[in-house]
Amino acid sequence: MSKEATQKPAMAWWETAVVYQVYIRSFRDGDGDGLGDLAGLRARLPYLASLGIQALWINPWYPSPMADAGYDVADYRDIEPSFGTLAEGEELISEAHALGLKVVLDIVPNHTSSEHAWFKAALQGDSQARARYIFRPGKGDNGELPPNDWESNFGGPAWTRLLDAEGLEGEWYLHLFAPEQPDLDWTNPEVRFEFEDILRFWFDRDVDGFRIDVAHGLSKAEGLPDFGVQPDAPVHSEPHPAWDQDDVHEIYRGWRKVADSYDPPRIFVAEAWVANNERLANYLRPDELHTAFQFDFLRAPWRAKVMREVIDDATDSAAEVGAPSTWVLSNHDVVRHVTRYARSQPPALSESVWVRAQWDKEPADLELGLRRARAAIMLTLALPGTAYLYQGEEFGLAEVEDIPSELRQDPMWWQSGYTDPGRDGCRVPLPWSGDQPPFGFSPEGATKSPWLPQPKSWATRTQEALENDPDSILNLYRAALRLRTELLEGMTPPEWIDSPADVLAFRRGDVECWVNTGDVGIQLPDKRVLLRSDDGVEGGQLPSDAAAWLVDT
Ligand code: NOJ
Repeated sequence: MSKEATQKPAMAWWETAVVYQVYIRSFRDGDGDGLGDLAGLRARLPYLASLGIQALWINPWYPSPMADAGYDVADYRDIEPSFGTLAEGEELISEAHALGLKVVLDIVPNHTSSEHAWFKAALQGDSQARARYIFRPGKGDNGELPPNDWESNFGGPAWTRLLDAEGLEGEWYLHLFAPEQPDLDWTNPEVRFEFEDILRFWFDRDVDGFRIDVAHGLSKAEGLPDFGVQPDAPVHSEPHPAWDQDDVHEIYRGWRKVADSYDPPRIFVAEAWVANNERLANYLRPDELHTAFQFDFLRAPWRAKVMREVIDDATDSAAEVGAPSTWVLSNHDVVRHVTRYARSQPPALSESVWVRAQWDKEPADLELGLRRARAAIMLTLALPGTAYLYQGEEFGLAEVEDIPSELRQDPMWWQSGYTDPGRDGCRVPLPWSGDQPPFGFSPEGATKSPWLPQPKSWATRTQEALENDPDSILNLYRAALRLRTELLEGMTPPEWIDSPADVLAFRRGDVECWVNTGDVGIQLPDKRVLLRSDDGVEGGQLPSDAAAWLVDT
């Protein structure tokens, strides 16, 4: 065989990248107002590059009234003034590029803010603007009932009724999230045109790609039929007329053409909570999106059997459409995985990533959670495809479960009628240095405290403290990221190795990855330990809740 024939085709960056999620309002505050911003992020770009990641995904940075932490966008072509300016954003993109980091932004196409010029015009009776949203008359004798039975993702009905021009109760508008986030009508060509133009606006500024917010929500079933009464159906497991409709794919075929018209081509990653990996693969067909988060992996309990099933199912279905799998353990919407792994583990895939119901029922063993989190990142980074890290997981941060009610900011807290504490606990500003709040999140002399309170116990979890400890989780992340780039990149699926039931063991290339989710230690094969999650990995033993990467001696 000729040399060329044996050479692997070069992989595109997005097929193998490890992407770091920057939740900007909690990353670093440059100007001392207690809110993260672009100045703070720019100052920490060298730190991010030093981790060994390849790209950043930055949560929405657009002007927003912040009814849902920036996922209520008032203007898609600018930057929220409390974060910085458009010029600073452009600087940031070029500084990141100079450090070898790609930049992925977040686009929010399912809904705008109620403060967006379009919705404001719609409320003033502009019929063209109104047709860009989903207004409907109510049911009942006087239109007093919502047009259908859909519920908002944050709790309560997905419809809000407005007053008409005469000040009388008028039509209802749809919002699958907060009332301040009216859903757009994607059957309207003006909406399509506008978003393709927004993509170009940022691609022209050298943005490398977009994470698509609720990518499975844009198209709704014709006629907006009722879902039906299915009180305990787990989220998105049942076909629902608001989610994952086949028409949505046509939109992404259009977006792909826009992305492919650039040199180098730009990319997309979908946030799509769909029923199964077959449905997810539809978003990854060659003329649609490049990648989509693998949420089954995030929802998997710390159990080898379930994790293995998830890994096989995900890699098989992604391979069928030629796409890389995209692994993720945590993000700004779910309970941090240190805490998820710190309590008893459900038998199968679970909704406990959102349901914070266990909180008062079972204390969290955070030492155990951290041990498992160390092993989990070694599993994640040994898998084929791409991976996303959520800021602070490299510090081993746990969910902050004791934020006082009056300081909570997530609309989920009030829209759920104060039954779901919401997502603030995974959004607490990062601890960088020092031994008391704000732990270097804000500069010396800051005028305001961080927008959510940081636990005092974070003194041992700052970047500064962890940097100086060779065995810290931060240094484990660095080592694992470096070795991954050298030895584990690519799309070859795991070759499973016979192992005890509670153990995941597979080979990729020259490396074997062993992860013990069981209660008892096991004997490892006679090989050289390249990296271990725990200093108990000695004398050929892999203790419970630990991982090791092995190579031939
Ligand atoms: C998903 C985002 O990740 C979440 O934070 C947001 O609340 C909803 N989409 C609505 O935009």
